[in-house]
Amino acid sequence: GTVGAAGATGLALGATGGALVQSAIAATPSGGTGSLSAVGAARVAFHGERQAGITTPLQAKGHVLAFDLAPGAGRKEAAALMRRWSETARRLMAGETAATADTGIALDAGPCSLTVTFGFGHSFFERTGLTARRPAALDPLPDFSSDRLDPQRSNGDLWVQIGADDGLVAFHALRAIQKDAGDAARVRWQMDGFNRSPGATASPMTSRNLMGQVDGTNNPKPSEADFEKRIFVPAAGPGPAEHAWMGGGSYAVVRRIRMLLDEWDKQSLAQQEQVIGRNKATGAPLTGGSETTALDLDKIGPDGKAVIPANAHARISAPAQNGGAAMLRRPFSFHDGTAEDGAPDAGLLFICWQADPLRGFVPVQRKLDRGDALSAFIRHESSGLYAVPPGPRDGEYVGQRLLE
Ligand code: HEM
Repeated sequence: GTVGAAGATGLALGATGGALVQSAIAATPSGGTGSLSAVGAARVAFHGERQAGITTPLQAKGHVLAFDLAPGAGRKEAAALMRRWSETARRLMAGETAATADTGIALDAGPCSLTVTFGFGHSFFERTGLTARRPAALDPLPDFSSDRLDPQRSNGDLWVQIGADDGLVAFHALRAIQKDAGDAARVRWQMDGFNRSPGATASPMTSRNLMGQVDGTNNPKPSEADFEKRIFVPAAGPGPAEHAWMGGGSYAVVRRIRMLLDEWDKQSLAQQEQVIGRNKATGAPLTGGSETTALDLDKIGPDGKAVIPANAHARISAPAQNGGAAMLRRPFSFHDGTAEDGAPDAGLLFICWQADPLRGFVPVQRKLDRGDALSAFIRHESSGLYAVPPGPRDGEYVGQRLLE
């Protein structure tokens, strides 16, 4: 759930996006004097039906990391860790300091829309003796022919996503989460990302990715009737009682997708636009209109060919082409310097949310894997799938309904 302006607009990832920081509930800054700017004061609620960081508008900075439970740590240690992590997330998201030995990194700043989101990987359930309560939706993703996955940077027992509109606030939360892990869990992998900063554009817009494309336009919107059903597990579903703890939760697919930017940049503008099926500058479909105009997939050009090519990314990934399969894409861009091949080690920390990966990511990626025009310019380098439980009620910690 969200508080303040972000709550009123709900999700703002798409064309209407980014309006979160116009007004905000006064935060309690952890230091400094005077009142905070709107960006600094913007605060997202920790408690609620949903965990924060799913329908929260994209933040400027992100840290995404997975932990493995330490040898010997089981359900009891995992429960204590989730309790510590939840308390830290609650405090920091409210603009308070950590409960013990705060590092001071975020002093003077407000919460800056900080969110901390927690999930459980497939292996978590063996480690904690809870396999009977592991939903089938968490079964490992199938292999895709174009995958070039690094197992070291994939999966993990526990997953944490941190987002904030300030780099220091985000890093402060990262350090606190790492320190809380103590002897119970160790970092398996970590990735750092970014998006547009609030205020960078004249008015709130859909963000761009590192290929320069407007990215996020056709995301499912909270105003749509089937939004909840597509993105969140039903709160009181017909499923077995052992899986009731996931009611109101969501599944996150997380992939480090490197962009082959040197190759991409060699393409002409027209070629780049054919790859996606949209105008690069405006994000409008090649069949005309504005960014929010629907794609006209049937339109034939003067050359007798489809105006939006058969292998255009936006055609292949559209729900109508995939039996209605849909997901909420909420990524960060990443840039980790120069790779061994001399090209930028940069791309998209692709994070997508859905009620069931078999009705979201999997069928769409299967199709993209078979011949998406974008495939020649990207490489999937890591993969994770996590069960992200519902938001905690007052006094509850995240995952309590599974672990208590
Ligand atoms: C749409 C870029 C990977 C699923 C788009 C659009 C762009 C884009 C520019 C059009 C604007 C929009 O509607 O957001 C990229 C890039 C990727 C990537 C650069 C990799 C680096 C993926 C993957 C999936 C995916 C891995 C899922 C398996 C979708 C979907 C749409 C979309 C569902 C909306 C289609 C529609 O309903 O019109 N993507 N994408 N994308 N993409 Fe991707």
